[in-house]
Amino acid sequence: MSSTAKMLLYRQIIPTEGRVSEGLPTYAVNSRGSSQLTLDFTGKPRNGNGFRDPAFADNKTQPLHRWVPWIAGFSAQFVQDCFETFLKNHRRKSAPRVLDPFAGVGTTLVQAVLNGFDSIGFEINPYAALACKAKLNSGKLDVETLASYVLKYKRVATNGRRHVATVRPAEFETRIPFFSLSVEEQVLTFLDFVESIPRPDIADLFRVAFGSVMVSFSNYTYEPSLGSRPGAGKPLIDRADVHSTILTKLSEIVSDIRWVKERVGSRPAEGKAQIHNLDFLDSTNVLASSSIDLMVTSPPYMNNYHYVRNTRPQLFWLSLISSPKELRKLEEANFGKYWQTVRDSKPLTLNFEHTELAHTLVKLRQTREEKGPYGGPGWANYVTTYFNDCSRFFSVLKRVLVRGGVGVIVIGNSIIQGHEIKTDLILADIARQSGLSLLAVQPLRTKRVGASITSSAVRRGNKSKATLYESAVIIRKK
Ligand SMILES: C[S@@+](CC[C@H](N)C(=O)[O-])C[C@H]1O[C@@H](n2cnc3c(N)ncnc32)[C@H](O)[C@@H]1O
Repeated sequence: MSSTAKMLLYRQIIPTEGRVSEGLPTYAVNSRGSSQLTLDFTGKPRNGNGFRDPAFADNKTQPLHRWVPWIAGFSAQFVQDCFETFLKNHRRKSAPRVLDPFAGVGTTLVQAVLNGFDSIGFEINPYAALACKAKLNSGKLDVETLASYVLKYKRVATNGRRHVATVRPAEFETRIPFFSLSVEEQVLTFLDFVESIPRPDIADLFRVAFGSVMVSFSNYTYEPSLGSRPGAGKPLIDRADVHSTILTKLSEIVSDIRWVKERVGSRPAEGKAQIHNLDFLDSTNVLASSSIDLMVTSPPYMNNYHYVRNTRPQLFWLSLISSPKELRKLEEANFGKYWQTVRDSKPLTLNFEHTELAHTLVKLRQTREEKGPYGGPGWANYVTTYFNDCSRFFSVLKRVLVRGGVGVIVIGNSIIQGHEIKTDLILADIARQSGLSLLAVQPLRTKRVGASITSSAVRRGNKSKATLYESAVIIRKK
């Protein structure tokens, strides 16, 4: 599709109907409410003052950002564009303070550090939080010491040493063996080596390297949800060179840290960064009121992508959790929860007013009603929980932004049991109800990947003509 055609499509998607469109500019205005943004929907470097393609795919080639793949994030360039748009007129003496309440593997926070800004993030998933922390700490790390440990590990790998201490996580259960025996032997040898590293910051980098590649030599695969290789039509992996795969990732990490040091080292001040492995909606004790100049974030989409289940291998094998009970606690605290977590509850209700959404929920509840938790009633509970969390999110955001502070929320629409839900427009409404000003709902791109619910709805014969798209909802505290 040509970029002109895409632009037309976007204009249809952000229509002049519904509540947010009243008084809303077609294109975003900047934080001072004046100039227009020029958009380039093709993902090429932009001309003028606009956002580049927000897809995380770009991060796969960027230093630091490329360490760990993560679903439904945005790119470092997108974050940079937000900084350039909304922080260029920052006039206070101190560095601006940036927040990402759903930090993932740290795209926003890393980019803030590279710009010399202070930043704070929250991430409920211990594996993503570990990756984020390791990236943020890497600027202070002695890279030669790290390189010497990589060399030591290489020797262990070439000597063919066998593991002695580490055992496989007892409560990590899978339908088929996660690793073949010969692969597992190498994995345990690696984990033994990590245990012997006395420096926690260096051990963390080794663990991140392992977490990033471990599924590639397992009998499971991301499609994008985690499933067995035979289930995806792929052969089992009997033998693999585990050590070489980890070493390749480690050498990428070493070379990126050298790059960061050169870049940050040449600047007088480095931004102070914090990542909290906590539920953002429970952040009162660590996040002061009126302390954030800019928030750039992408919350979990309402597509039931199960971050917790999909990172079970990393969570168990890196000893970040040790039992299914801990896994369930994470599922409960996850923003919007999961369909699996709320489908069996009694019918849930919205805790804020929204006529159109309430109407959609009634229709959704009546869709395949006879299937109960697996039909409309179960999915309506999920949608209700999701938007109730969005409403809680905006009250916290309003508290923590400085007056005039801006929030950019990247979000996609959803198609659930054949019903399209324009999450961006509803979020914009909730933000306004929470007392925040809406600057824009900015179209970003169409044909998002990872549409698990769309495909399941289609499989069940309930086709929707809607297209998946992503937008940035941009708000400001009055
Ligand atoms: C779309 S991803 C964000 C990706 C991020 N922008 C990046 O580039 O890595 C959403 C993240 O929110 C996290 N999350 C879910 N519930 C949360 C909560 N209550 N508090 C903090 N983080 C949460 C998920 O674990 C997931 O990593």
